[in-house]
Amino acid sequence: MTAPKKLFIKTYGCQMNVYDSERMAEALGGQGYSEVKSADEADMILLNTCHIREKAAEKVYSELGRFKKLKAEKPDLKIGVAGCVAQAEGQEIMRRQPLVDLVVGPQSYHRLPEMEEKARAGEKVLDTDFPEEDKFEKLKRRPKATRGPTAFLTVQEGCDKFCAFCVVPYTRGAEVSRPADRILTEARDLVERGVREITLLGQNVNAYHGAGANGDLTLAQLIWELDKVDGLERIRFTTSHPNDMMDDLIEAHGTCKKLMPYLHLPVQAGSDKILKRMNRSHTAESYLRLIERIRAARPDILISGDFIVGFPEETEEDFQATLDLVEEVKYGTAYSFKYSTRPGTPAAERPQVNPAEADDRLQRLQALLTRQQREIQDSMVGREVGVLFEKPGRQPGQMLGKSDYLHAVHVADCDRKAGDLARVRIVSSRTNSLAGELID
Ligand code: 5AD
Ligand code: SF4
Repeated sequence: MTAPKKLFIKTYGCQMNVYDSERMAEALGGQGYSEVKSADEADMILLNTCHIREKAAEKVYSELGRFKKLKAEKPDLKIGVAGCVAQAEGQEIMRRQPLVDLVVGPQSYHRLPEMEEKARAGEKVLDTDFPEEDKFEKLKRRPKATRGPTAFLTVQEGCDKFCAFCVVPYTRGAEVSRPADRILTEARDLVERGVREITLLGQNVNAYHGAGANGDLTLAQLIWELDKVDGLERIRFTTSHPNDMMDDLIEAHGTCKKLMPYLHLPVQAGSDKILKRMNRSHTAESYLRLIERIRAARPDILISGDFIVGFPEETEEDFQATLDLVEEVKYGTAYSFKYSTRPGTPAAERPQVNPAEADDRLQRLQALLTRQQREIQDSMVGREVGVLFEKPGRQPGQMLGKSDYLHAVHVADCDRKAGDLARVRIVSSRTNSLAGELID
């Protein structure tokens, strides 16, 4: 028997890439690969890349440059680029960095085993098609390997919204939902392997409309099906678009016990002029009313968001409207970015905001968001929350987990193990975590 080959995957970007990397590792597992934690040991290196902002894409080339020495020492080493940079740049990657053997787009991961064989045989291989076949069906999970208490599960991919700044509709393609029975089978399998919490993933997850036994299911209907899975304790989903926040989903936040009180609902900006230019097809006011309705269904829900500052033609007044919206919503956590020009997207052609001004706005927005995050985290002190333990902490006897609201919580002298759910009283709030004690 030949010695097992070693695979090193480095994942950039969003949670869907984390999910995809797991699937790729499993697909290559069938080719005799086992995963290792460093590039130095690997027979194959895969970079699972992100194209959302320019910085993310450029990182890939600097990382590839670092592999030159490795490849010189180990000529059999194969280097692959997967993910959204692969999809967006294709052949160009091999031209710019000839040490790359394999380029695979997100819709072609199920073809990795044959691509790997060709690469081993010395070919340069590229696959960035959007094939008709169902890649998820072909990417079967290896049975029964146990895993940690939380998992991602992709239910929907691609996006039809075409926000003017965003590459996702081009790199991940049109919106496609997976059939409900496949998702339920995957969820049951995950639960059998020890998973207690599943985060449903999709670029536009609340637009989910996968086939069910009696017609298409909405995301809320899918959640109710998952609610019946014994052993599954928590359900989350991300990322949602405000316009797809349907009544049944809002209602589920009030009535489905397994659905956690956390919602990532990006708004991007607070000025209607900018929202219109972003092609967001909602206004600041409609977003605020939506948040009100969600909070009426689930008053304690923690709202998370995404923001872009310095979008073309954003004035100081427009930016103020973003700050005003943030003041009104009060975000428990948020991600904010300086606008990054993405070639091929509509906004790329428009007059850009002065970069120093954009930097200044980003700093001001982040100061406000950090303050809100801190206030909400501090307000947890004294409260009782559910915690799902994930792993032991650095101190002896300490366990780490996540609260219902997705705050990191550590508990000292804790007799629970990874995968246990417990009621915990929060006793103090630190920079990025909460300390708690078991209630019973
Ligand atoms: N520039 C800056 N931020 C962007 N995002 C998407 N495209 C861009 C871009 N061109 C942000 C949005 C989105 C998040 C995933 O990344 O806020 O919600
Ligand atoms: Fe990109 Fe999200 Fe807009 Fe779709 S909805 S285009 S993924 S920002």
